Amino acid sequence: MSKKHLLIVFHSQSGTTGRMADAVIRGARHPDVDSVEVRALSALEADADDLLWCDAFILGTPENFGYMSGAMKYFLDRVFYPCEDRVAGKPWAMFVRAGNDGTGAISSIRRILTGLAVKEVQEPVLVAGDFDETRLRECEELGLTMAAGLEAGVF
Ligand SMILES: Cc1cc2nc3c(=O)[nH]c(=O)nc-3n(C[C@H](O)[C@H](O)[C@H](O)COP(=O)(O)O)c2cc1C
Repeated sequence: MSKKHLLIVFHSQSGTTGRMADAVIRGARHPDVDSVEVRALSALEADADDLLWCDAFILGTPENFGYMSGAMKYFLDRVFYPCEDRVAGKPWAMFVRAGNDGTGAISSIRRILTGLAVKEVQEPVLVAGDFDETRLRECEELGLTMAAGLEAGVF
């Protein structure tokens, strides 16, 4: 059976979103899910070919100035037109790290992805305020849920 493809694209400047990404990747690569190939990339290196390659994707960003990070915006700027009309219906989810809010990052990503007609299938994992290690478990679950759901064909 050919493998399904899960793409994880994230950005982190000072490392905390990166720790969330590590947990998401760990969940997505759970040994029980063996027919999903996971590709994890920085938002600065991922491109339209990666988004076209995947069957589902997860985005991770800090909130900066009430918006997604500049690097995540740079990714979406580069993929939007090459992927328009070619990714409709793909399942996706996001995780967000914020100093105290996070709603601006979430809404800005949703607004752009609405234009790609992709389908958000999980609630975002938002870790705001002091970094709470126990929330990494939710990140791991997000990765596992997306991978297992893709494998089972539930999305
Ligand atoms: C330039 C800058 C702007 C920020 N703006 C916001 C903001 O608008 N809202 C918020 O809740 N946190 C804001 N923060 C806090 C970051 O979201 C927080 O430090 C986060 O942990 C950074 O993630 P990282 O460790 O993955 O780089 C800002 C941080 C920086 C450096």
